Amino acid sequence: MDIAKTLPAASPAIIITAETGADIAAREALLDRAMGAGRKRKSSEKLRRGRRPSEGLAFVARGEGGAVVGTVRLWDVRLGDHGAAALLLGPLAVDPTVKSAGIGSALMHHAVAEATRLGHRAILLVGDAAYYARFGFSAEKTAGLAMPGPYERDRFLALELVPGVLDGAQGTLKASGRKAGERAAVRVAAA
Ligand SMILES: CC(C)(COP(=O)(O)OP(=O)(O)OC[C@H]1O[C@@H](n2cnc3c(N)ncnc32)[C@H](O)[C@@H]1OP(=O)(O)O)[C@@H](O)C(=O)NCCC(=O)NCCS
Repeated sequence: MDIAKTLPAASPAIIITAETGADIAAREALLDRAMGAGRKRKSSEKLRRGRRPSEGLAFVARGEGGAVVGTVRLWDVRLGDHGAAALLLGPLAVDPTVKSAGIGSALMHHAVAEATRLGHRAILLVGDAAYYARFGFSAEKTAGLAMPGPYERDRFLALELVPGVLDGAQGTLKASGRKAGERAAVRVAAA
């Protein structure tokens, strides 16, 4: 689904679309520009490395000429070894040349809406509460949960898509998404 977002008048028209294979190089270059070289050392990266994003939950924001100016992806995780399924969001990044034009917010609203539509129940992330609170994220429901590596507890945030679903949730997050290179299960209907 493509969504044209209404952004401030000075902004170029931005379209949010599903990420495609052709966007990968531009997305990686954007992440390097926006987040710097240390981005691959984050503990969230442990839950992403070698995995594919959750089905239908990798998005780019496109500016003039289709250039990738924003990215967000969500990943399948479990809350503890055999715990409930949830999503880990990140990285979210916007090209520094078009910051504060509402693109990050548009990506977040779209990601949360699509995750909800697809039946997911909760989204977790590690990020600045001062930014993510506006989308409903808080550290309130992550007290019993942990990331698999160093992180700052007050930056470990969650949003319940189903109210109460994180009540009493405990355990260290585990990657549970499809491994990179693994093909989706394809069923061929009998003629
Ligand atoms: C964080 C980021 C995705 C926001 O994207 P954006 O398109 O600039 O954001 P929006 O236009 O939707 O929102 C801008 C507002 O968020 C605020 N904001 C941006 N980053 C913030 C942060 N880390 N903490 C608190 N507020 C923040 C801006 O000051 C601005 O406030 P205003 O609306 O009062 O002027 C972008 O700045 C970015 O890519 N940063 C580097 C990568 C990064 O740190 N990503 C993870 C975030 S924890």
